Amino acid sequence: MKYQANNKRYSEMTYRTCGDSGVKLPLISLGLWHNFGGDVPISKIKKILFYAFDKGITHFDFANNYGPPYGSTESNFGKIISKDLKKYRDELIISSKAGYDMWDGPYGEWGSKKHIIASCDQSLKRMKLDYLDIFYSHRFDPNTPLEETVDALESIYKSGKALYIGISSYSSKKTNEIYKILKSRNIKLFIHQPSYSLINRWIEKDLTKTIKKLKIGCIAFSPLAQGMLSDKYLHRIPNNSRASDKTSYLDKSLITKKNIKIVLELNRLAKKRGQSLSQMAISWVLSNKLVTSALIGVRSLNQLKENLDSLNKLKFTVSEMKTINIAAKEGNINIWKQSSSY
Ligand SMILES: NC(=O)c1ccc[n+]([C@@H]2O[C@H](COP(=O)([O-])OP(=O)(O)OC[C@H]3O[C@@H](n4cnc5c(N)ncnc54)[C@H](OP(=O)(O)O)[C@@H]3O)[C@@H](O)[C@H]2O)c1
Repeated sequence: MKYQANNKRYSEMTYRTCGDSGVKLPLISLGLWHNFGGDVPISKIKKILFYAFDKGITHFDFANNYGPPYGSTESNFGKIISKDLKKYRDELIISSKAGYDMWDGPYGEWGSKKHIIASCDQSLKRMKLDYLDIFYSHRFDPNTPLEETVDALESIYKSGKALYIGISSYSSKKTNEIYKILKSRNIKLFIHQPSYSLINRWIEKDLTKTIKKLKIGCIAFSPLAQGMLSDKYLHRIPNNSRASDKTSYLDKSLITKKNIKIVLELNRLAKKRGQSLSQMAISWVLSNKLVTSALIGVRSLNQLKENLDSLNKLKFTVSEMKTINIAAKEGNINIWKQSSSY
């Protein structure tokens, strides 16, 4: 049966303005890093995407290499956006990125013009799109002049292949630098995509100040710390979880006794608030008013439903916030920190 979007799709979601732009993003955006690639049945992908859109999630996030295999998530999405979601294209913000390993050889990754432009063209083809809404430099490249990375982003922007330009996991210093170079070419840096969660608070050191100063948006990825901020790892590593999946980046070694202790305490505080830990983790990320959107991932429709319910309890009392902030200790789980170390 042909998909028809829910007429009330904009009645439950709240939208925040992205920096000083004219664009609003939903409080919760959906990323398709895991669980939407390869031979995952299109019917399952559709079920999750349509439900998300029906609930007002207008932003779907991709990268060239989401899968496995690399590229397959964008290809799967291409099948859906070119048919069922086609008439809703103007209601959607679709993003992709280049910078991590995508194809063999010296041009298959990092920040050269050669890599970024070819990768963007490939993403558009796979997704059967004329343009992306946001295109990101996925990571800072210490071996390519930032001017060259900006050359590529400028070309993508000025040729209309992307409407807005973003960066991911750049340090505060490099964010300032790329902002200035883009500005000198009459391009406003639109958004930063850093990792951020109750147990990964690196952006609070100085990046959030920079984001505020530059008036750019901030979409926080992995707000559930890849699933660690739920009750699933409290007693063991279950099957059907990211940590048990050999192709994932959630290494079992990150689920330390110390981290489980932190998660147990956060789980207790979430229960006290009447939320699940996953819900509290999302509400907490969104309590930082610099965060435009929480960029979540899901394995199932039920996870999406549970996570969307976090929007029913976004407020924290002063005393809740105080206790949670004490319990929310650094978990050393930021596997993207190399990119922000420059
Ligand atoms: N820019 C970058 O470098 C970068 C890096 C990473 C991610 N991202 C973007 O951010 C998006 C989100 O990242 P992420 O998937 O790591 O985010 P996340 O929301 O922190 O983790 C998602 C995982 O958490 C678990 N989960 C979700 N809801 C749950 C629930 N209600 N109860 C129990 N477990 C739950 C699931 O893991 P199980 O599969 O174990 O069930 C799910 O796959 C990605 O899709 C991508 O778009 C960007």
